[in-house]
Formats: sequence, C-alpha cells, structure tokens
Amino acid sequence: MPARRARRVLAVLCFTACVAQAQGLPPVAMNCQPCHGIDGVSAAADIPNLAGQRRAYLQGQLLAFRSGSRKNELMNAVAAQLRDEDIVALAAWWSGRSPGIVAVAAAIPSRMVFPAGFPQGFREYRREEDAESRSVNVSWVNAPGWTAAAAGQPLPDGSIIVVASHAAEVDAGGALKRDAQGRLVAGLAQSYSGMQAEAGWGAEVPPLLRNGNWHYALFSAAGEPRGGSLHPHCLACHQPQGANSHVFGLGMIKAAARRP
Ligand code: HEC
Ligand code: HEC
Repeated sequence: MPARRARRVLAVLCFTACVAQAQGLPPVAMNCQPCHGIDGVSAAADIPNLAGQRRAYLQGQLLAFRSGSRKNELMNAVAAQLRDEDIVALAAWWSGRSPGIVAVAAAIPSRMVFPAGFPQGFREYRREEDAESRSVNVSWVNAPGWTAAAAGQPLPDGSIIVVASHAAEVDAGGALKRDAQGRLVAGLAQSYSGMQAEAGWGAEVPPLLRNGNWHYALFSAAGEPRGGSLHPHCLACHQPQGANSHVFGLGMIKAAARRP
C-alpha cells in the first residue's frame, strides 16, 4: 500500500489515542487534530489547513496568536498554553504533512445528554430578554452546582448548566405579552446549550482543550443533540475560564445562590 494511502486508512480507523502513536507525531499536535484534521487538512470551511504550510509562517502565526496580536478566540486560547519548544515542534510537524490527504477530524464526542426531567432539580440563575428578536433566554444550574456556588466553591463533578432559548409569547394580535412585572413571557423552548461535568470525562479530551471534567452540547427543542462537530470549539473557548470553573457566568450563579 502506498504510504499516503496507508496513512489515510489509518486516519479513518483511528481517533486521537491511536494517532498519537503515529510515527513522530509530537504529543502536543493531538490538540490540533479535532479542528485542523488528523493530517492537518481541515474538514471545516472556516478552519485553514496546516498540512504543507510553510514552517516559518506557522511559527509566526502561532507566536502571533499567543501574544494576541492575531485575534481569534479559539486559537488565542489554544496558543496561550504553548511553550516555545511546542511552537517549534508544531511548525515542523504540520509543515511536513502532505496537503493531498482527505480531511478527517479527530472527534471528541460529548457525553452530555439532555438532563432527564429538566428543569426539575434545577435553579434559575439568569434571565435575559430581547424584544427585538422576541426571545427569552433562561439559564439554569442543578443542585450540586448551585450548592457549591453558594459556598464559594468551584463547581464539582455532577454539575450541569443549561441555557434555554425561548420564543417570547405574543397575543392574538402579534404583540409581545408581558407579565405582571412587565417582563416578556417565555414561550416554547426552541433550543438549548449545556455543559456537564462528570468524573473521568476530562481524560477523553486532549490536554490543551481540557476543561476539567466538563463536556458541552447543543440540543434541539426535543432535547436531541445537535452540532456535535462543534464540541472542540466549545472546549477551546471556555478553556481560559479555568479560574471560574470554565463557566463565564459563574459570578451570576454565585450572586443568585447567595440571594436570600
Ligand atoms: C477549536 C478549534 C481549533 C483548535 C483546537 C486549533 N485550531 Fe488552529 N485555527 C482554528 C481556527 C478557527 C483558525 C482560523 C483563525 C482565523 O480565522 O484567524 C485557526 C488558525 C490556525 C493557524 C493560522 C493558519 C493560517 O493559514 O494563517 C495556525 C498556524 C493554527 N491554527 C495552528 C494550530 C495548532 C498548531 C493547533 C494545535 C496546537 C491548533 N491550531 C488548534 C481552530 C483551531
Ligand atoms: C467564541 C467563544 C465561545 C464558543 C465557541 C462557545 N462558547 Fe459558550 N459561552 C461563551 C461566552 C462568552 C459565554 C457567556 C455569554 C453570556 O454571559 O452572555 C458562554 C456561555 C455558555 C453557557 C452558559 C454558562 C457560562 O459559561 O456562562 C453554556 C452552557 C455554553 N456557553 C455552552 C456552549 C456550548 C455547548 C458550546 C459549543 C457548541 C459553546 N458554549 C461554545 C463563549 C463561547
């Protein structure tokens, strides 16, 4: 079998763990494969190929992402964690890949499923409404997360956060309904985004994308998972929030949990 074809077959058969053993792959390069493809050829329209790109250029771009002079939330978060020697090794590795390979991303499956019985057992910590888009977003956290936040502790394994996007209710004439406090009324939920931490889940995520034990997911109105290929994006963007348990709105959860 020609080497190129052999590599392609390997890529189809393998996910991250086995690819890490591919000849010469620097371990740090595993962190790139979910977005840039196992061989540096990207399957997503908005993610560039790395394979065969010039070494000096790759090095320069990684330095620029790390310093923040080139801005991209995903790449800034990843590059912030790279040491000088990682950048040298990554530029050498990816510039040496063949750009003629079929794109195969290394999946990081999310284990999160829509919480049974939601919103039972959850507490609302935030409500945002937008009259223009006629929408109401309600954010919820389950009891383990709420209790820890009230005590000023990091959110433990077993924590779940769900943000529900609702259409605002309208009356027969199409005007927005308001409740007694003048707030828009949340109608049917249209979709959900969520994050959940469980023991061991972090081990399934390459180190630079790891968010403790959190996994992320988007759900349809019926609670079906969607957008699975975006999981690496969720992880990359929430990764720098480590000091806040990877939750952007941790301060709001704490404030709500401390309210008498
Ligand atoms: C979560 C997804 C994600 C991960 C993980 C990721 N990247 Fe990226 N990368 C992107 C996106 C998106 C862009 C395009 C950025 C832009 O539009 O400026 C990009 C751009 C780049 C570029 C610029 C390429 C060019 O043509 O200018 C380089 C170099 C790069 N990434 C290297 C890496 C390396 C090395 C890793 C692993 C250590 C990595 N990336 C991990 C999403 C990712
Ligand atoms: C470009 C960066 C970015 C990406 C990618 C991203 N998030 Fe977020 N996420 C944010 C920001 C910023 C907030 C806070 C928004 C606010 O407070 O209104 C947030 C908030 C959240 C929250 C509420 C808890 C919290 O952290 O405050 C959940 C749940 C969530 N995101 C899930 C996801 C999921 C699922 C994905 C992937 C499908 C994802 N996010 C991808 C930036 C991102």
